[in-house]
Amino acid sequence: MKLAIIYTVLSLPFIAAQCSDDVKISSQADIGSIASCSKFGASITVEGSTATTLDFSGITQITGDISFINNFNLNSLSLNDLKTVGGTLQLLNNTQIIGLSIPKLSSVKSLELVNNPALRTLSTTNISSINNLQITQTSLSTHGTITAKTIDNIELISNSFLKVIDFSSLITANGYINIVDNQGATANFQRLTSIAGNSTFRQLSALNTSAITSLSNTFNVFGNTFTSFSLESLNQVSMDLTIANNTKLTNFRIPLLSYVDGGIQIVNNPVLTDITNDTFPALNYVKGGVNLSGPFNSISFPNLTRVDGALSVTASGNFTCDDFQTQFSDLVEGQFTCEDEKPAATTDTKSNGSPTILKSNVLGGFVMIALVGLSLF
Ligand SMILES: *[C@@H]1O[C@H](CO)[C@@H](O)[C@H](O)[C@H]1NC(C)=O
Ligand SMILES: *[C@@H]1O[C@H](CO)[C@@H](O)[C@H](O)[C@H]1NC(C)=O
Ligand SMILES: *[C@@H]1O[C@H](CO)[C@@H](O)[C@H](O)[C@H]1NC(C)=O
Ligand SMILES: *[C@@H]1O[C@H](CO)[C@@H](O)[C@H](O)[C@H]1NC(C)=O
Ligand SMILES: *[C@@H]1O[C@H](CO)[C@@H](O)[C@H](O)[C@H]1NC(C)=O
Ligand SMILES: *[C@@H]1O[C@H](CO)[C@@H](O)[C@H](O)[C@H]1NC(C)=O
Ligand SMILES: *[C@@H]1O[C@H](CO)[C@@H](O)[C@H](O)[C@H]1NC(C)=O
Ligand SMILES: *[C@@H]1O[C@H](CO)[C@@H](O)[C@H](O)[C@H]1NC(C)=O
Ligand SMILES: *[C@@H]1O[C@H](CO)[C@@H](O)[C@H](O)[C@H]1NC(C)=O
Repeated sequence: MKLAIIYTVLSLPFIAAQCSDDVKISSQADIGSIASCSKFGASITVEGSTATTLDFSGITQITGDISFINNFNLNSLSLNDLKTVGGTLQLLNNTQIIGLSIPKLSSVKSLELVNNPALRTLSTTNISSINNLQITQTSLSTHGTITAKTIDNIELISNSFLKVIDFSSLITANGYINIVDNQGATANFQRLTSIAGNSTFRQLSALNTSAITSLSNTFNVFGNTFTSFSLESLNQVSMDLTIANNTKLTNFRIPLLSYVDGGIQIVNNPVLTDITNDTFPALNYVKGGVNLSGPFNSISFPNLTRVDGALSVTASGNFTCDDFQTQFSDLVEGQFTCEDEKPAATTDTKSNGSPTILKSNVLGGFVMIALVGLSLF
């Protein structure tokens, strides 16, 4: 008797047994056993189920993970009351799923939607706390409403219908940002001030990173279709900055950057003809190397006084090495290489009619046999 009373008293603050053990769910009937658990104190796994719809209404909080893996008949999933997930909310490889409804979700450690190629709708209203967001190979047109000011990692890969990437509330990224192959999407990070990990932005049609002041790792701008971008506020780069393969890029600006602790590579941007006085007006000291390769007509670094690594230029436009060498070769600690190639005059054509490339100038002590810009990667 006494024991029973003690047991009752002790158990009051705890969650009922069926709400505190990890559970595997295969059907809507299985959900019945936990539907009364407003707070579920463990993890829920749904793997290899044949159910077509699953509705977890009633559950507001999950302290562990909730995972949906390899459910090849699952069409739609409702987590209509779910507000917080202590661990990961994961959808992996559910090939038929079309919709995920999590309208009340406000806090989740990781949201991972990976390889759900039919997934078209994601209803969220206000995810204000999240550490990791990973959305890969879906048909989603939205990544959900993320109002968090701080995040660790963001990975958005190969979501062909994702046209608007909006992280306009985000201020700090403590990890990496990898946004690639969401063809033609625009990305807005207008309040983001720092990225602690590496970052890659690829195949975007617009990018706003104008508030970033510091980059603690590499920053890659690859294969985008925008014509210009700016890192208006950037004053600190701890590793490399690479701007490559941007098919329409004609200009960019990094006005406050004076010191780069790594290197700078600007290669294979087919219409970026000028690095003007406005591109890097303050750049003073590059600790690593500088690699420039492309159709340059002019290259200027008005405030550059020191490069500790190599400086290598391969220019196919009107740019000529002579003045550039005079200005910069003495302030480069590493090897200075400059190559300006001119398209041949019309009389200099091969028998098949294609223009010959003449190397008019090779400076710095070694001849580059082939263009090496892309082999950097
Ligand atoms: C995804 O499902 C396919 C079957 O359609 C299976 O071959 C593959 O191993 C699954 N991937 C994972 C990561 O479980
Ligand atoms: C989103 O949720 C947070 C935290 O609950 C709240 O402070 C904020 O006002 C909400 N924002 C909107 C737009 O509802
Ligand atoms: C980025 O966003 C800021 C703040 O809204 C705005 O002032 C700026 O013009 C935007 N930059 C670009 C390149 O769109
Ligand atoms: C970026 O950082 C992540 C996590 O540290 C790492 O797995 C990835 O390989 C890095 N990517 C690049 C391009 O350096
Ligand atoms: C640039 O484009 C070339 C050819 O399309 C490709 O092989 C290379 O991997 C790309 N490099 C980067 C950094 O995107
Ligand atoms: C040139 O670099 C020096 C040293 O970093 C800096 O003090 C100065 O403000 C820079 N000049 C311009 C015009 O940005
Ligand atoms: C520049 O290119 C050379 C030759 O490909 C390479 O050895 C060097 O590491 C590159 N420098 C940077 C900063 O990437
Ligand atoms: C670029 O800046 C340099 C050094 O301040 C100056 O000599 C040159 O005239 C400027 N070029 C242009 C096109 O403004
Ligand atoms: C090189 O300069 C000539 C003469 O100023 C100009 O006609 C031509 O367009 C320039 N080439 C490029 C690639 O801009």
